[in-house]
Amino acid sequence: MSFFRSRCRCDEQLVPFLVVGLVACGSALVEQRATVGQRTVVPVNIAHRGASAYAPEHTLEAYQLAIEMGADFVEQDLQLTKDGILVCLHDSTLERTTDVEQRFPQLMVELQDGDLIRQVWRVSDLTLAQIKELDAGTWFGEEFRGAQVPTLQEAIDLIRGRAGIYPETKDPEAYEVLGFNMEGELIRVLAENGLGTAGGQTATPVFIQSFSADSLRRVRALVSDTYPLVQLVGLDQAEIFMSDRGLVDVSTYAAGVGPALSILLADPTRTIVARRIGLQVHPYTVRATQVPMQFPDATAYMSYLFSELGATGVFTDNPDLFPQGVDRDAVDR
Ligand code: G3P
Ligand code: CA
Repeated sequence: MSFFRSRCRCDEQLVPFLVVGLVACGSALVEQRATVGQRTVVPVNIAHRGASAYAPEHTLEAYQLAIEMGADFVEQDLQLTKDGILVCLHDSTLERTTDVEQRFPQLMVELQDGDLIRQVWRVSDLTLAQIKELDAGTWFGEEFRGAQVPTLQEAIDLIRGRAGIYPETKDPEAYEVLGFNMEGELIRVLAENGLGTAGGQTATPVFIQSFSADSLRRVRALVSDTYPLVQLVGLDQAEIFMSDRGLVDVSTYAAGVGPALSILLADPTRTIVARRIGLQVHPYTVRATQVPMQFPDATAYMSYLFSELGATGVFTDNPDLFPQGVDRDAVDR
């Protein structure tokens, strides 16, 4: 067990030995506990945008369903309204998942997107009151008509004590240009709710994630290591995960790394290296509709990620399909 806990050099030459070690450990790997904020549990079931395979992403309906399906964490992508309120939405614009086009046609702006001009409605151009008028459910299914874009506070109110939250600072630098401090506002809301503080809500662990290393460093500058941070690694950032230098750098400010699945699968030994460096590994995103052919279903796919590759959690649109065979004990720190 200490094999994965101890820090050591992680030169590429060591990788074959690490692979042998991983195979030797076999399924024992999933028995290991890794610290995840205020409690320990491995591996973690992270509901991506809520139970977004079954309900409109980033609505309270999707979050509620995720909790009922047994998610350990419910993810929130964060955007900021014109009046500076954090809301949960993946896109920085509203037209894909709401009826903003019908409700506020006058707030459309045209954005150059390569050779195309896109007509969009920016979150930062609408007040919270205006965003609350929008229907964020009907695009997904008529039965969700009337679902709203939730604030971070509403998400916390729903999830608190029932699962962890996993907010992501989205486009933080773009909001900074507009005069907002997304990290500061996030930390303010978390602190106001007693999350992550001594004597606070241990039943509501928190991970903070971002594709932006600068954003995570700003969080760390604000609150030190109060919250475990996760560096997301997109397809255009693969070098962070594929190089020892990149992973070691991440370990100086973050507790984990969240690579796109295709990056992780391109070289399974990299997960071992990340673990050796002491990082948790939470790849994104397992979807029942996008399971590689060698696996019969999403459950088998997730089992492979944990027991064969050593991932310590996964973002999934299908939290109900998380493998039930793994040890699911949670221990307060
Ligand atoms: O945050 C993990 C995963 O959600 C990153 O991708 O684009 O869905 O936020 P995205
Ligand atoms: Ca996300």
